[in-house]
Amino acid sequence: MCGIVGYVGRSEAGPILLDGLRRLEYRGYDSAGVAIMDGDRVETRKCAGRIAELGKLMTEKPPVGTYGISHTRWATHGKPTDQNAHPHFDGSGKLALVHNGVIENYQALKEDLLREGEHIFASETDTEVLAHLIGSLYDASAPANGYVPPQNEKSRLVAAVRAALQQVIGTYGIALVHRDIPDFIVGARRGSPLVLGVGKEENFLASDVSAIVAYTRDAVYLNDFDVVAVERDKFEISSVAGEGGNYEVSKVEFTDEDIKKGDYPHYMLKEIFEQAGSVRDAMRGRLSTDECTAKLGGLDMTAAQLRDVGRIVLTGCGTALHAAMIGEYILEQLAGIPTEVEFASEFRHRNTPMTRDTLVFAISQSGETADTLGALRESRRKGYRTLGICNNVASTIARESDGGVYMHAGPEIGVAATKSFTSQVTILLLIGLLLGRMRHLSTSEGSHIIGALEALPDQIEQTLKLSDEIRGIARKYAASPGMLFFGRQFNFPIGLEAALKVKEITYLFSEGHPSAELKHGIIALVRPELPSVFITPDDAVFSKNLNNMEQVKARKGPIIAVTSGACGDRLRGIANDVITIPSAPAFVTPILSVIPLQLLAYHLAVELGRDVDKPRNLAKSVTVE
Ligand code: F6R
Repeated sequence: MCGIVGYVGRSEAGPILLDGLRRLEYRGYDSAGVAIMDGDRVETRKCAGRIAELGKLMTEKPPVGTYGISHTRWATHGKPTDQNAHPHFDGSGKLALVHNGVIENYQALKEDLLREGEHIFASETDTEVLAHLIGSLYDASAPANGYVPPQNEKSRLVAAVRAALQQVIGTYGIALVHRDIPDFIVGARRGSPLVLGVGKEENFLASDVSAIVAYTRDAVYLNDFDVVAVERDKFEISSVAGEGGNYEVSKVEFTDEDIKKGDYPHYMLKEIFEQAGSVRDAMRGRLSTDECTAKLGGLDMTAAQLRDVGRIVLTGCGTALHAAMIGEYILEQLAGIPTEVEFASEFRHRNTPMTRDTLVFAISQSGETADTLGALRESRRKGYRTLGICNNVASTIARESDGGVYMHAGPEIGVAATKSFTSQVTILLLIGLLLGRMRHLSTSEGSHIIGALEALPDQIEQTLKLSDEIRGIARKYAASPGMLFFGRQFNFPIGLEAALKVKEITYLFSEGHPSAELKHGIIALVRPELPSVFITPDDAVFSKNLNNMEQVKARKGPIIAVTSGACGDRLRGIANDVITIPSAPAFVTPILSVIPLQLLAYHLAVELGRDVDKPRNLAKSVTVE
């Protein structure tokens, strides 16, 4: 959510910043801008719209200079206009700042500045207030007269940043430059990610390593309240409070190649097609066929501690929450442990009664989602062991949890989550297997689960072959006013997930429900133009779903069925379209049944001419509440 890139080195900053912004565009695409320093001139280009628009501005009039900052915006305060686009300047016009996050007390800070006088604000943003605040603290610290050695100016600027941030309530990832201090960038973070890329005679700042991995794979993942002063050949990390910071330089675990779209027209399609590999990677080295269990060392819990778990809370947002909902079925069925799913945004603000033996899992692809992070912190504050299920290894959730399981799904760039979902469900299955084998599951049951898991990658490959058939179905229903999704048990959350995918990337109205809820009200929506999609594999509730489909058919509602095995034949004559996936035990089926629905949403969106990877109003990694 908003992307920042900063560069200081010997190369022209413009192309590097623009390239970084393109790679961060998934974080926001309402407006974009750069400020590049050239001697005593600040070259600014910014505009509403996509990075491509900024690219045009920068081609028409290339900014020159070897250090600068840049930003792609997902609007929070103020409309996506040219004026509101970052960078923003302080009162002197010398200090340029980009910001990701929300300054909650910006009104109060603005009123204080206005009372001081001489502050004219050009935008409606909270960011501009922060720029003015830092600028006025910096100017106020200037000696009354006389020469100021450059080194002192650097420390004065860092001190002004610290002093300003001590007054801020809210979240920030920031980068700033000052016209009078050459080759110098200051960054800081609280609640919004910021990473320092360490190069040779050049250094970078970015919201996400994907922006800079083409230039360096050495990275320092900054912690909350870190302030970093970056120069061409050195950097210094301290805290907002002025103490020395601890840091470590890590190797980024993926390369620039991994984040290329390759021959796929969209990242979303690429990521859907990566799922055989990403599910395999989620299981790699984690299955013990000898003991018929899973090995999850990252949980960092002894066997006795795992046996003592009496209750589980799974929390997350959006797609991760849907994975959690399947996790509830998995953990209760495989491990017999009472499990609840909590919206992270609700959980963090309410006083959920918890028992001391409760284990909390925060599930998040990005590991940066503000609500999930808030839930994790609240749960840890109250003394519950809280584990993360994350894809982004260096993320805040991964770092702040007591332990966890990484997804190893590789970078997910498409705004609509796909492969991270199947990896999350796979990991929940591993956790269910591990906890179940410590309780009532026999070796033969454990071995049956392992067999089902090991068969998954090939079954996913088979399922992906349905893509062309699904494109045909998407074409047939592209003019529909929306779609309803129904499923039961393990496949009820798949209905929710499918409806979310359709909403996000097609903008069509869509809803998911447990099939049996149909007759409790939703049936009023059923009509010939509105298709209902039933996720009804060959399982214990197939005949119940069949009854619900008959109720829709009786009201002339078109039906698309996702089924498995021989059940396809029983659906002919009832469903208008039948999609058959490979047969699998009920607990692994959601990993297969979601794939045709991801493809359905994708092909529908393409058919409707939507911007699949950058849907309207959305951004990946939601770092605001
Ligand atoms: C849906 C989607 C969002 C995310 C949600 C949580 O396609 O991408 O609903 O699932 O914002 O994100 P993470 O998993 O990064 O916490």
